[in-house]
Amino acid sequence: MSQQKIVLTGDRPTGPLHIGHYVGSLANRLLLQQTYKQYVMIADVQALTDNVDNPKKVHENVTQVMLDYLAVGIDPTKTTIFIQSMIPEIADLTVYYLNLVTVNRLRRNPTVKTEIAQKGYGEHVTAGFLMYPVSQAADITVVRAQLVPVGEDQLPMIEQTNEIVRSFNRIYHTDALCEVEALVPKIARLPGTDGKSKMSKSLGNAIYLSDSADVVTKKIMGMYTDPNHLRATDPGKVEGNPVFEYLDAFDSDTKTVEELKQHYQRGGLGDVVVKKRLLEVLQSFLEPIRTRRAQLAHDIPSVMKLLKEGTEQTRIVAAHTMDRVKEAMHLNYF
Ligand code: TRP
Repeated sequence: MSQQKIVLTGDRPTGPLHIGHYVGSLANRLLLQQTYKQYVMIADVQALTDNVDNPKKVHENVTQVMLDYLAVGIDPTKTTIFIQSMIPEIADLTVYYLNLVTVNRLRRNPTVKTEIAQKGYGEHVTAGFLMYPVSQAADITVVRAQLVPVGEDQLPMIEQTNEIVRSFNRIYHTDALCEVEALVPKIARLPGTDGKSKMSKSLGNAIYLSDSADVVTKKIMGMYTDPNHLRATDPGKVEGNPVFEYLDAFDSDTKTVEELKQHYQRGGLGDVVVKKRLLEVLQSFLEPIRTRRAQLAHDIPSVMKLLKEGTEQTRIVAAHTMDRVKEAMHLNYF
């Protein structure tokens, strides 16, 4: 067996991916695929936990997310990309893991708690939604991943996964499951164009990798900045100003960004100038992605074939993990 580290991440296919996804995990995946055995999962089962009545949306976005992956440079010869619902072993593992987790522990999971509040579920939260971190532990452990590149909002999921792994290995006297480590990038979370702390589809404050040049221009020029920076001559704030946070994330000329920040803070630098700089940087980042995405979209059957092959490869690994798990649990009858 190779000693190469195993990496897994995934995304819910509820919409195309945005630049927040890029900064928070896609960029790391591009690096990790050079060195590690990487799996990337399209989490359609997890997407259904908060889209019960919208299966078509989930179905359509599986293709959109796959196009985004390929367009940014996730390379299917290096990274195994697969669909969650096509790996029955994940559902199988989830059932066993549920016995190792209390309902109270799930209610206290900070990510789940925030989402329940945001979506207004309250006491009507479904069992499926509440337990999705357990299913996520199955996603990660089914390929025996050791490293998960994610944004910081996913850290509670990793913690919960490790609790399950430790309980399982202790109770069933096995090392069938691997503990996992999160890999969080320096800029783990990109704010929305409205200045809200997180870029997300549901908040309507995202810039998508697939947005046209015109749409990107509109979104950037309409961005929230420092609300007290009314005139160009006024001193402005850089902290909490999403325009500067985006420049930090995408402008490789850090010296110029530093100068712009100082000028803005002193006063005398208008929002429009800074936004135009950001626009230039972002357009040149997005342009090749957009072009490649449009090319790939001409031949969806080829794109789906790559997804099918990745899924078939993952099933082999998943079956192997399942054998070990069932043996440890004395569920090996014949
Ligand atoms: N919960 C992740 C998100 O909302 C998606 C996801 C599902 C995931 N399973 C995963 C991420 C396993 C990392 C590992 O973005």
